[in-house]
Amino acid sequence: MSEALANLLNETRQFPPPAELAANANVTADAYGEAAEDRLAFWERQAGRLHWARQWDQVLDWSNAPFAKWFVGGQLNVAYNCLDRHVEAGRGDKVAIHWEGEPGDTRTVTYADLHKLTCQAANALTELGVTAGDRVAIYLPMIPEAAVAMLACARIGATHSVVFGGFSADALTNRIQDASAKVVITADGGFRRGKPSALKPTVDEAVANCPSVEHVLVVRRTGEEVAWSAKDHWWHETVETAPPEHAAQPFDAEHPLYILYTSGTTARPKGILHTTGGYLTQASYTTHAVFDLKPETDVYWCTADIGWVTGHSYIVYGPLSNGATQVMYEGTPDTPHKGRFWEIVDKYKVTILYTAPTLIRTMMKWGEDIPAGYDLSSLRLLGSVGEPINPEAWIWYRQYVGRGELPVVDTWWQTETGAIMISPLPGVTEAKPGSAMTALPGIVADVVDDQGQSVPNGGGGYLVLREPWPSTLRTIWGDDNRFIETYWSRFGAGANHGDDWVYFAGDGAKKDDDGHIWLLGRVDDVMLVSGHNISTTEVESALVSHPSVAEAAVVGATDPTTGQAIVAFAIPRGSTEISGEAGERLIADLRNHVAKTLGPIAKPRQIMLVPELPKTRSGKIMRRLLRDVAEHRSLGDVTTLQDSSVMDLISSGMGAGK
Ligand code: WT7
Repeated sequence: MSEALANLLNETRQFPPPAELAANANVTADAYGEAAEDRLAFWERQAGRLHWARQWDQVLDWSNAPFAKWFVGGQLNVAYNCLDRHVEAGRGDKVAIHWEGEPGDTRTVTYADLHKLTCQAANALTELGVTAGDRVAIYLPMIPEAAVAMLACARIGATHSVVFGGFSADALTNRIQDASAKVVITADGGFRRGKPSALKPTVDEAVANCPSVEHVLVVRRTGEEVAWSAKDHWWHETVETAPPEHAAQPFDAEHPLYILYTSGTTARPKGILHTTGGYLTQASYTTHAVFDLKPETDVYWCTADIGWVTGHSYIVYGPLSNGATQVMYEGTPDTPHKGRFWEIVDKYKVTILYTAPTLIRTMMKWGEDIPAGYDLSSLRLLGSVGEPINPEAWIWYRQYVGRGELPVVDTWWQTETGAIMISPLPGVTEAKPGSAMTALPGIVADVVDDQGQSVPNGGGGYLVLREPWPSTLRTIWGDDNRFIETYWSRFGAGANHGDDWVYFAGDGAKKDDDGHIWLLGRVDDVMLVSGHNISTTEVESALVSHPSVAEAAVVGATDPTTGQAIVAFAIPRGSTEISGEAGERLIADLRNHVAKTLGPIAKPRQIMLVPELPKTRSGKIMRRLLRDVAEHRSLGDVTTLQDSSVMDLISSGMGAGK
């Protein structure tokens, strides 16, 4: 960005927390003051929510910045914290996971069940020669064994590397090779979109090129025929016959817990390394604080896949360390029908729902009649993560899922941050739709200009984090230089910024007049129009605020007069008429609507009405491909697309227009 981001959107609606929630909230406004007064003492108290086998000697060692060490000298076992201590406290019969398979089969897994399976898996992995520090790749569908596999690794100090089940053999190969994984845990397949979707053949293809792999453990889920080699072991013959007793040994607070590769829309994927004590402290505290989780009464559901960091922190480590009861769902939201999510909320009486803007916008497109067909009265708190949530999508979520009453927590964080960093506190914050609001207690976030100077309220620039936090990535696996280069060099020490290490998140952001933070998309996506930096997020939000638009993506296309021009792709809502003249009228109307909402500078040069948008497998819009369309280029790499036929639909143009 050559100058600060223009601050165009003016959203003034604000929603205080429901009185009852505020009165009984796990965390009150005092937490901000306490953390500001003594940040390290604050995190030390949160670490105290866990069971430690040995107390730490020092809270934070930052002497080798930007390589942080938290709770130095402390020892703990992550699986013990997630399982044994609940069972030992007499809560073994409590349901840990209400599992729902896509075809409708179900399993009820108690804490005692999960503990037993994890101990068996720990024994089986040990028997296969896995020891502390070894890497284990996990490539599984959304079945309880995915959580068991992760917890079993944590239990024996093996570092897991979960690879999303939708990734190709090449992606899996790269990730196995980068971490030199010794064992792969997979399944014959899972159910997706109404049919079995095989995983084992992909693993076979990858393992053929991965000499580090000694054994492959295979869960039987679909029952489909699979090829078999000397390295393969059935889970039910190996794990389920292993002894159920296993004593969890404590590990150092900085022992590597997992590697997770960022989806990386462009460059070589980065193996983000998380360690034990600080990570679990912050994953656990934020689950308690941001979701106001009450383990005795809540039924929590995070709809993410375990292959993403959201699944790591907010399906496995956060909820289980708090002793939560949660729902886990294997499949897609529209199989066998578009009400599947709401049917699940209704069936299990879900109280806390954590999902992504892409899903909320899809539900908007399908129409509010669908959630209206189910009893959603059990819900008491709604969360969002993954992308900026457009104000109108936030309002829709609160209105049609949250009865117009429930708090919505828009949580900003990254694979790298390990846990939620910027978010409302549900019992404290008067939330504004579209804003992640403020850094959580114990976190210091800021928005800076090109020179790294903090911008005043009303200004825009780059989101940065100023002080180390417990669940920060420790490095990029095998590449310390890239770690420093990517996150700490833009505004960091050594670059004329004194001794302060400033973490560059790669997101554009602004502070509104009250100092609240609005995320404006990845810095690479910002558009430069006639010398003004304009955020794709703000123009998209303006489009989504039109009653006929469910979802929109905006890109900057090279333009001879303005440098870049705004080109928009919009998905119409439900039954909107878009053929012929009606489509032309809608496009003209949308261009004017954006100009009226944000100002003439943001008026799109061109708007195309499309049936779908290209998304990554984690649901983020791939603007790079839309830029190719807007600039009439042949398409770049489409291998990370969730559904590659989408680009054909867009290119053939269902209503391309001016
Ligand atoms: C990037 C990180 C965090 C877990 C899932 C994604 C974007 C994430 C928000 C939000 C605006 C958001 C950012 C961030 N992002 N949450 N609430 N508001 N943007 O993890 O794949 O590492 O992606 O997702 O651009 O940098 P990830």
